[in-house]
Amino acid sequence: MKVAIIGAGNVGAMVASRVIDAGLADVVLMDIVPGLAKGKALDISDARPVSGSGADIKGTEDFKDIHDADIVVITAGLARKPGMSRDDLLKKNAAILREVAVNVKRYCVSSMVIVVTNPLDAMTYLVMKTTGFEPCRVMGMAGVLDSARFINAASAGTDSVDGDEVFMMGSHGDSMVAINRSKKLSSSVFKEASGRARNRGAEIVSYLKTGSAYFAPSAAVFYMLKAILKDEKKTICASAYLQGQYGEKDIYIGVPVVLDSSGIKEVIEIKLTDDENNAFKNSVKTIRESIKKL
Ligand code: NAI
Ligand code: 2OP
Repeated sequence: MKVAIIGAGNVGAMVASRVIDAGLADVVLMDIVPGLAKGKALDISDARPVSGSGADIKGTEDFKDIHDADIVVITAGLARKPGMSRDDLLKKNAAILREVAVNVKRYCVSSMVIVVTNPLDAMTYLVMKTTGFEPCRVMGMAGVLDSARFINAASAGTDSVDGDEVFMMGSHGDSMVAINRSKKLSSSVFKEASGRARNRGAEIVSYLKTGSAYFAPSAAVFYMLKAILKDEKKTICASAYLQGQYGEKDIYIGVPVVLDSSGIKEVIEIKLTDDENNAFKNSVKTIRESIKKL
């Protein structure tokens, strides 16, 4: 199997390292900065005797090398700096992702695509429309990360919390929607933990100053890659294209999905409370505003 990772920055390189260490697939790591992907690929490959991995990695500046990848992970683009929202990145990253998507269509006509670049839901929409790929083959990573942050924050105040009972849907932004179906979680812990998860990206940026989170984001991408490559039929949250589900059409937004070797096998419609539904509709509005600006 071959995974192409576009963008050899913090998230892209860390995903490459996780995939190679685990021997999950061969990797092509691509970046426009001369030497960056080549240098990081060599460094990652040197860890193989330590991790006992036989997977291959190649660094490149040439889109041609991504040809026939089974999955393309798009992390190219600018990351947030302190004070910036994910939407501040919209115009610059849209220009980058248009170019990337044209090349994905040219060299990887049957591959699956996981978009990571922010603002996540609008960028995933842009990639699907530019490639013209079936929507089930194009998805955005955010729900696994936001749900992990939520569960991590909630677990500090309770014994344990199951991932299928406590998760984040909606946009990967300030209007993300916290879902709690766990009886173990009191409303005060729920409120506090969901608030902390919603703010976690900005909190990390405020400490790092020169970039944004990448350890947990790369773990979340790895989790999705494994679910697809190993046909795990996992229920996770991902940014998926809605075609009537939740009463919405022609939008990418975070919802529970079943992920397998065909990509998004199914969008799962859970019953939302009135408050959750109002929050979800607010997320929809925010994403549609971003999509309009593309
Ligand atoms: P980074 O700045 O470390 O890396 C981005 C890389 O993209 C750079 O190496 C840059 O040279 C490269 N690049 C720019 N234009 C390119 C092009 N046309 N072709 C190939 N490569 C190109 O940023 P980082 O931390 O890796 O984040 C990447 C993106 O992912 C950002 O937009 C960030 O906001 C987003 N992100 C999204 C998350 C999510 O949950 N969806 C989580 C973490 C980051
Ligand atoms: C995060 O949530 C920057 O979107 C990225 O950490």
